[in-house]
Amino acid sequence: MPSPDQPPKGLGFLTSALAAPVSPAEAALRPLSFADFTGQPKTVERLQVMVGAAKKRGEALNHILLSGPPGLGKTTLAFILGHELGRNVRVTSGPVVEKAGDLAGLLTNLEEGDILFIDEIHRIPKTVEEYLYSAMEDFRLDIMIDQGPNARSVRLTIPRFTLIGATTRSGLLTAPLRSRFTLQTRLDYYDHPTLEGIVRRSCGLLQVAIDAGGAQEIATRARGTPRVANNLINFCRDFAQQRANGKITQATAAAALELLEIDAAGLDEMDKRMLRVMAENYRGGPVGMSTIAVAVGEESETLEEVHEPFLIQEGYLQRTPQGRTLTAKGYAAVGLKPLGGAQG
Ligand SMILES: Nc1ncnc2c1ncn2[C@@H]1O[C@H](COP(=O)(O)OP(=O)(O)O)[C@@H](O)[C@H]1O
Ligand SMILES: [Mg+2]
Repeated sequence: MPSPDQPPKGLGFLTSALAAPVSPAEAALRPLSFADFTGQPKTVERLQVMVGAAKKRGEALNHILLSGPPGLGKTTLAFILGHELGRNVRVTSGPVVEKAGDLAGLLTNLEEGDILFIDEIHRIPKTVEEYLYSAMEDFRLDIMIDQGPNARSVRLTIPRFTLIGATTRSGLLTAPLRSRFTLQTRLDYYDHPTLEGIVRRSCGLLQVAIDAGGAQEIATRARGTPRVANNLINFCRDFAQQRANGKITQATAAAALELLEIDAAGLDEMDKRMLRVMAENYRGGPVGMSTIAVAVGEESETLEEVHEPFLIQEGYLQRTPQGRTLTAKGYAAVGLKPLGGAQG
């Protein structure tokens, strides 16, 4: 498994953009309150109900699991919850919490009502996960110290805290862990009008000149993902300064994104490589993801987290029990025709 701090492999702009750690530029664009956050209406409404109730009762917010592909706003929402509740947010990530002692350290340092945000929570070691159960349910930790005849368990009481877990792969979470979250909510890809609004907001904050056509062009090519939209804005701004008069118009945005090999539908090099391999080497499937991964030279985790969800949502790929199959739209995206008998 790739670790989060490993540099992303040189795979085209979108993948590296999605895998990038939080940059100061990204933090500057992050909405700080619900009022600032557009899209995800169902998730936002659920969260607002819980925040309102927790505030009224003066209690800690119940535990929440946010799932969905990278770059859709999970981390942003965790910070918004902290802001709305007026509480601290401590951030960690599944693979970093290696031992029960690490978890104990994190939990005992929290104050009443604080939020512990565990990113990539599906990657938390199983041995640590079991300690998390009693922490979430009973706000205590029974830690074993010493070994052999001296072994004894020490009970630590921890402040009532809120666990916010984020995951790109909710299917990999164990049932016992999942069931301890009061709310499990999934973030979806953003539609074009919502993304257009996000593009305009980001350009306003960055003081980048853009017109309606430019915003529309970036929004349609940002694969439904705010983080991608923000990255495209940065490149389009550079492009507009170097090759035009500095303003992002429809024509400059289109030319800039062409240079990045992001097509009109937002598909990048790696997406196309996956589709082409499936069409040319595997007659449109069904073919397993690990096979596709070897053929395109990318980790299958990355393909499953970053590329596949978008390709499925947009109808280029289908998931079947036998493997992935290419649809007629998938063939068309790489300029090929389905083989005789292949169904779309
Ligand atoms: N609804 C939104 N409105 C505006 N910007 C957003 C929204 N959702 C995400 N972003 C932007 O996208 C970037 C990535 O969001 P983030 O919360 O880090 O995604 P995730 O944690 O799901 O990978 C952030 O910098 C944030 O500015
Ligand atoms: Mg995140």
